[in-house]
Amino acid sequence: MTRKLRAAVLGATGTVGQRFIQLLEDHPWFELGAIAASGRSVGKPYRRACSWKVPEPMPEYAEDLVLGPCRPGLEVDFVFSGLPSSIAGEVESDFARAGYPVVSNSGSHRMDEDVPLLVPEINPRHLELIPLQQSRLQSSGYIVTNPNCTTIALVLALAPLHRAFGLERVSVVTMQALSGAGYPGVAGLDVADNVLPYIEGEEAKVETEPLKILGKYKDGKVDRAEFGISAQCHRVNVQDGHLEAVSASFRQRPSRSELVEALASFRSLPQELNLPSAPRRPVVCLDEPDRPQPRLDRYLEKGMATVVGRIRPCPVQDYKFDLLGHNTIRGAAGAAILNAELLLARGMLEGKQ
Ligand SMILES: NC(=O)c1ccc[n+]([C@@H]2O[C@H](COP(=O)([O-])OP(=O)(O)OC[C@H]3O[C@@H](n4cnc5c(N)ncnc54)[C@H](OP(=O)(O)O)[C@@H]3O)[C@@H](O)[C@H]2O)c1
Repeated sequence: MTRKLRAAVLGATGTVGQRFIQLLEDHPWFELGAIAASGRSVGKPYRRACSWKVPEPMPEYAEDLVLGPCRPGLEVDFVFSGLPSSIAGEVESDFARAGYPVVSNSGSHRMDEDVPLLVPEINPRHLELIPLQQSRLQSSGYIVTNPNCTTIALVLALAPLHRAFGLERVSVVTMQALSGAGYPGVAGLDVADNVLPYIEGEEAKVETEPLKILGKYKDGKVDRAEFGISAQCHRVNVQDGHLEAVSASFRQRPSRSELVEALASFRSLPQELNLPSAPRRPVVCLDEPDRPQPRLDRYLEKGMATVVGRIRPCPVQDYKFDLLGHNTIRGAAGAAILNAELLLARGMLEGKQ
């Protein structure tokens, strides 16, 4: 590669936007070309507009960058979006129509028929939807999305199991971190000494997105996978890292060791291509009886893996286990950056024309 591609981050001051800023520092293929946020922030230097919440310090390179509006016209090759769904739909479409590749975190376009809901380890063929989308938009631009933060941790574990044994039914009960609600997010008085058994819209996303991701691309569309998922989502008093208690039944019931082997040996295209953000192990299996735990395990594989533990037979379904994913890294900014790396490796990110 002769030069790094220039990326804009829309929603750069937010919880996800801050992770983009952190993960793009010293990225070997991409550099930050512009940052943008709401009218509240436009014209301000990043260090003044942003209430920095990532545990490590704000990277120096970003401190004095000035925020612009979320409108096409930015001098970049492509765009990362960490915008709220309330506005992302229209803004991302505007950028795509203006010729920018848009690599989005937001929920707005995930289930659009011609928009890839991409997990590079699972469904790289879904990128074949892009030319169809470009002809609908009549543009060289397009939108690629990554899943909801709860979905992606779950589906990275489900994918190798579905491939090997055929999933029949999945039940998942989540314990989701506060940072998943953005900033300022949930009021302190609501979460102190408490668990909230409701996250608006979350259960529907977890019950539908995996079926698109695990679906097969054929003749210009994705045929959804056919099995049932039941999700019950809870907000808990943890900073980062979503824990999920899963139980599953299979068409061919594996032995426990076959199930562990399918998870632990899962490797795919990002690992073969050695993409810069690809985890060496997309699924990490732990043996200790009391793991995974958010505080101890969320940074395994730099926050890009799903961490699975407590794999055991279930008296109701075939097996049950716990899994953990870092919601702002593999669940958001890290996932989008990995998506962009795959797009570049596939020659689909030549930049805005
Ligand atoms: N948090 C997670 O773990 C997570 C995981 C996966 C996906 N997501 C998705 O990622 C997106 C961002 O979530 P978040 O948690 O980062 O939210 P957040 O902390 O509330 O940040 C929102 C960002 O969007 C900007 N913004 C808000 N209204 C705007 C407007 N009208 N025009 C332009 N910019 C505007 C804000 O800028 P100002 O600072 O100027 O207001 C801020 O930069 C959402 O779609 C969310 O569903 C979040």
